[in-house]
Amino acid sequence: SLCPQLFFVAGLILLVMAAINFDFSNSEIPPGVNEPVKLRIIHVILISTAVVGKILEKIGICSQISFVRYVQGIKALGADQKLFIEDLWFEKVPVRIYQPKAPSASPRTGVMFFHGGGWVFGSLETHESLCRSLARGSESVVVSVGYRLAPEHKYPAAYEDCLHATVHFMRNAEHYGVDPAQISVCGDSAGGNLAAAVSQTLAGRADLPRLRAQILIYPLLQALDFNLPSYKQNQAVPLLFQERAAFYVLQYLNGNASNLEQVLEGSHIPIDIKLNYRKWVSEDYIPERFKARGYKPHVLLDCSTEVYETVKRFCEPNLCPLLAEDAVVHQLPESFILTCEYDVLRDDGLLYKKRLEDNGVPVTWCHLEDGFHGIINSFNSEWMSFSSGKRGLDNIVNFLKNL
Ligand SMILES: *[C@@H]1O[C@H](CO)[C@@H](O)[C@H](O)[C@H]1NC(C)=O
Repeated sequence: SLCPQLFFVAGLILLVMAAINFDFSNSEIPPGVNEPVKLRIIHVILISTAVVGKILEKIGICSQISFVRYVQGIKALGADQKLFIEDLWFEKVPVRIYQPKAPSASPRTGVMFFHGGGWVFGSLETHESLCRSLARGSESVVVSVGYRLAPEHKYPAAYEDCLHATVHFMRNAEHYGVDPAQISVCGDSAGGNLAAAVSQTLAGRADLPRLRAQILIYPLLQALDFNLPSYKQNQAVPLLFQERAAFYVLQYLNGNASNLEQVLEGSHIPIDIKLNYRKWVSEDYIPERFKARGYKPHVLLDCSTEVYETVKRFCEPNLCPLLAEDAVVHQLPESFILTCEYDVLRDDGLLYKKRLEDNGVPVTWCHLEDGFHGIINSFNSEWMSFSSGKRGLDNIVNFLKNL
């Protein structure tokens, strides 16, 4: 009988209609965004996946997180004509290495890549196409790191995995035809946070070669203030809402999102500590042109001791690299920072750019005027890629080629 199939199709249509309805009432796609219709479709797909996950969780089949991870983990691409691709372990960390097949007269540059996904999602699969593009375009050897995820594995698990994999690659670079003095770190979103933290840890290490560069693609770099202009202006712009940014960093820190409300309103850090970091984390250092879209300064709130107790590790630079001392920032390698205008994390990038420049570190800055959070990664599918994202990726590839 056709009945079960009809039932399934009707259910699917209802689900997508609900997701579209949810999307129109909750999200806001500003007119200046690159390919807005496509963005809305992708957002609806992501919401539908989350809703199916929630339903499966409610009826006791699997958790929402494992469903979303399962969907994201589906292999999308076959062999690559230009690259050898292999899964390996660096110490106890799973990695995927992308090596150009064409012979090279001299050792290649190397790139450690840390994927995004809020420390909770993302995998070697979700960033497969992006890593291939980097390796092919720049003729580098790219190592993508399958670090442990939250909430099962809390901070500093992800950071430590990325660090250990990077050190292992530095010590064994020649084995992969890579010049150990030409290794860079790169990451998007949460991966940009990990790249910045690893870079700071390795700065000034005498027993290892110096990192050649760091490439930070719309990174999250602080958790003191989720009310900077970009967070306010883009609070409901897909693919990352203001609330989600705070939610994810709390999952990474504590494995749960208790105190989300306080973190969002800014009553999670005592005023004296906030004032102490004002020299680095403040709307005062965001150039005026970025405040044009209806931004009003935020009132400074104090916090209770209990709340601060649960989030005080936000003041550790390995978690929030924007809070590193000048002595560390001063030693960082040449940097590439990509920011998007319609992204809550725009100001994290702008503030870090300023800190690097104030400390004499050369910065190549790529700002996508019509970009949104997530625009660089096309989830392995050509129709999900954006022209502005491709421009950003070309800039990254050129930066790598010129190192
Ligand atoms: C959230 O995590 C913190 C730190 O790990 C823990 O102390 C707290 O009990 C957790 N809260 C809930 C509701 O699980």
